[in-house]
Amino acid sequence: MKGIVLAGGTATRLYPLTIVTNKHLLPIYDRPMIYYPIETLAGMGIREIMVIVGGKSVGDVVELLADGSAFGIDLTYRYQPGALGIAHAIGLARDFVGDEAFCCVLGDNILRGPALADIATAFEQGPYGAGTLLHRVPDPERFGVAELDADGRVIGFEEKPVQPKSDLIPIGVYFLRRDAFAVIDKLLPSLRGELEITDVLNHYIPGGRLFSPVYDGHWTDAGTVPSLLRAAELAAADDAAGKLAPPVSRSPG
Ligand code: DAU
Repeated sequence: MKGIVLAGGTATRLYPLTIVTNKHLLPIYDRPMIYYPIETLAGMGIREIMVIVGGKSVGDVVELLADGSAFGIDLTYRYQPGALGIAHAIGLARDFVGDEAFCCVLGDNILRGPALADIATAFEQGPYGAGTLLHRVPDPERFGVAELDADGRVIGFEEKPVQPKSDLIPIGVYFLRRDAFAVIDKLLPSLRGELEITDVLNHYIPGGRLFSPVYDGHWTDAGTVPSLLRAAELAAADDAAGKLAPPVSRSPG
């Protein structure tokens, strides 16, 4: 399986912190934000990763991560010209992923819990077209939100609904196959002008082709000031419990 990390976007919800720098370079406890999604993918055993960069300080993202060898992975980059949506960003990785199944992790998603290797294998070997991880949150209206039927099966996702139909959200971990690029090609921009990942996931719900296990580790995004703080608190708690490996580091070049 190959991996993708999305590190574009404009991060206006974090202004003034992100007026002159890329959100994914902001510190979360003892390391830059983008280390966490890279570690999430590396923890699945994924070794070939493409980082989609955009917005501010793209050169600094590349300088920080370089070729990935410090993380034991092989990194390449692709530039997204504008915040055209998560699905648009994933579409830029078409040639990179080729015919392999792949996992995309959003650059501001912090997972602190069990490694996802078994989940990745279950997706890859299963009959699914797409997958995501569900997580219960107190503020679902900030995210994509799952609608469930009486048996608890997902029947649809809505992006940032005013009245959420559940408190289960698809977090920013997506398992996809080559087939997804044809779905992305047919998407139309949402009212906020983006190609939405929830529209891609919705495509796979009929016929039971969506894999959506619940993630029961700790999770947060880090795209708002309160969630940025929460992300640091999760990392600090793991460090206090001896569950946070020291960050990869090297001398400045
Ligand atoms: O965090 C989980 C949520 O992430 C999901 O529940 C939502 O369904 C999904 O749409 C997304 O919602 P957000 O509004 O929080 O996404 P945001 O615009 O903050 O972008 C998430 C990450 O993706 C961020 O690290 C930047 C990157 N990104 C985003 C866009 C729109 C890109 O690289 N390119 C883009 O065009």
